[in-house]
Amino acid sequence: MASLADAGLKFTTLPHPAPASDETREAVLANPGFGTNFTDHMVVIEWTEGQGWHNATMGPREPIALDPAAAVLHYAQEIFEGLKAYKQADGSIALFRPKANAARFNRSAERLAMPTLPENLFVEAVERLVQIDRAWIPDAEGASLYLRPFMIATEAFLGVRPAKSYKFIVIASPAGNYFKSGAPAVSIWVSEYTRAAPGGTGAAKCGGNYAASLVPQGEAIDRGHDQVVFLDAAEHKWIEELGGMNLYFAFEDGTLLTPALTGTILAGITRDSLLTLAREEGLNVVEGRYSLEQWREDAASGKLVETFACGTAAVVTPVGKVSGRDVEFTIGSGGPGQLTQKLKNRLVAIQRGEAEDTHGWVHKIG
Ligand code: PLP
Ligand code: COI
Repeated sequence: MASLADAGLKFTTLPHPAPASDETREAVLANPGFGTNFTDHMVVIEWTEGQGWHNATMGPREPIALDPAAAVLHYAQEIFEGLKAYKQADGSIALFRPKANAARFNRSAERLAMPTLPENLFVEAVERLVQIDRAWIPDAEGASLYLRPFMIATEAFLGVRPAKSYKFIVIASPAGNYFKSGAPAVSIWVSEYTRAAPGGTGAAKCGGNYAASLVPQGEAIDRGHDQVVFLDAAEHKWIEELGGMNLYFAFEDGTLLTPALTGTILAGITRDSLLTLAREEGLNVVEGRYSLEQWREDAASGKLVETFACGTAAVVTPVGKVSGRDVEFTIGSGGPGQLTQKLKNRLVAIQRGEAEDTHGWVHKIG
């Protein structure tokens, strides 16, 4: 586990022999897409049993050498985070709630029997990468620098037990829209597969959850949808979340509902921020249960007026259409609703330093 000494770790900066040219970088920033282009550098910090966190380096982004028996390659001891750095209205740079990501990272680490990382060290590693690669932060509206901190088990050992060595790594990727289609609202497919069961790893951000979501997500794409929505494992009745986003349901009476955190859903930081912003808007915000059947009925009667997905990558994205084996319905007009747009605008304005940050969410890094 993390020791106090880990908090004061010194970083070594390794020289970069060949950073991208200004031309290459400008071409990427003009059209960043999502997740396909990367900055020049990465942070690596090592952990070994008995020694704790050590050997913190900032160096060129490059392939990592792993023993073929490394535990991550066999038993998937891997966790990750996703957060963004935003250009602020005043030209400075800020992260959004990075300590919340650090805390969630440690909850994931505990569930995957991995060492925790001092929250300050997590934030420092991210800050350092953003500083050194600040030229990679896109300017365009809706664009940002996506940061991907992750941890892998590196010990070469084929017995099934927690590994005794790990690497914590941070990479960065200029990001535009998560959804390629650029459609005003996304359409989602109700999966027959289960994402997470009670007692499982649904609340952890571990790679295995996403590996298991690829077949269901592929089915959604094959059927012409953008994303998959998962129902609960026990009754296959209650709506949980999308493959990589939480969900919100808005009703005509001013109620805004999101599935409660039962242990099978990821505790989204966007979800949490919107709970606060929606309460400030005077909405009756409820964390509870909502069934697929009720969703369909309420969309048909007009009681449900909007549904939206939210997450770091997807920000706030309206859901227009829902299809499954026995259901097909449209929400509202099938396009973006007013409340979705209003909450998105409020969140984005805070993230970009265009609205006052009354909650201490904006973490400036100069
Ligand atoms: N749910 C899942 C399964 C996710 O992968 C994500 C993305 O991180 C979210 C929800 C949204 O979480 P956040 O708002 O912290 O990005
Ligand atoms: C994020 O929103 O940061 C995620 O990790 C979701 C993933 C599907 C890109």
